Amino acid sequence: MHIFFIKSLLALVLLLLSLVSIFTMLEMFGRAERKFSQEKLRKVHRVSGLIFFLLSAVIAYICIDFLAKTKAEPSPRAALHAAFSVAVLFLLFLKILFNRVYRQFYVRLQTMGLILAYLSIAMIGSSAGYFLVVSKFGKEIPGPKTAEQKKDTAQEGALMTAKTDPLSIARGKELYEEKCTFCHDPFSNTTLTGPGHKGILKNPLLPVSKKKATPENIAHQLRSPFKDMPSFAYLSDEEVQSIIAYLNTL
Ligand code: HEC
Repeated sequence: MHIFFIKSLLALVLLLLSLVSIFTMLEMFGRAERKFSQEKLRKVHRVSGLIFFLLSAVIAYICIDFLAKTKAEPSPRAALHAAFSVAVLFLLFLKILFNRVYRQFYVRLQTMGLILAYLSIAMIGSSAGYFLVVSKFGKEIPGPKTAEQKKDTAQEGALMTAKTDPLSIARGKELYEEKCTFCHDPFSNTTLTGPGHKGILKNPLLPVSKKKATPENIAHQLRSPFKDMPSFAYLSDEEVQSIIAYLNTL
């Protein structure tokens, strides 16, 4: 199962917990006449808030770990999502502190709760919501956007050749060491996170997808990976060509 799909499923649990917290908050403070026992509402609100906090911390860890491993440049959507997430975790932490320790701020809790409700929905919508919609609820793993896909096909048609000038190879080596060696060994075929890359363009087939080992299929792998590799769609055509020039020397 794709890591993003697992993350989306966890996020659905988060959504459920948010809805429980919002509902209990509204019932506690939004009505003059009480429909439920205050004590029970408070307990449910507290427990759902606590599980929400722990689960978001786990998801935040997955995201930060992913970012650190891939050094990926976040897309505008991912950056917005990250900003919402940091705000949610920080605000929730503050809210717990105000409730438990800094009681003079207790009067702020209702406002904070409303802002938290808004931010949580925005946080979940900007990642899991987006992912579930574009992947038809996990059935299709989203690749790059249509314009890029078109460009890929055009590239495939144009039959790329690997560059052989020393400058491209040197630039490619630099990029490879910065972005790829965390998961790939260039000097063997041992699998780290991804397969080793020794002789990658000299073998007839690519190691995992078993597609033909051609520069365009490698370019395609970088823009729209076969399975669990993160996408490097943000690399320019020239950077991709340099990486391929270096891979061609292995
Ligand atoms: C976070 C780990 C990770 C990073 C970083 C990474 N890869 Fe991969 N790579 C993988 C995994 C896992 C696979 C196995 C196939 C898949 O999941 O798409 C793979 C497969 C490949 C393949 C073989 C694809 C096939 O069709 O068999 C190539 C080529 C490749 N990576 C190139 C690169 C290059 C070049 C970089 C650096 C720009 C890079 N990878 C960075 C994890 C990574």
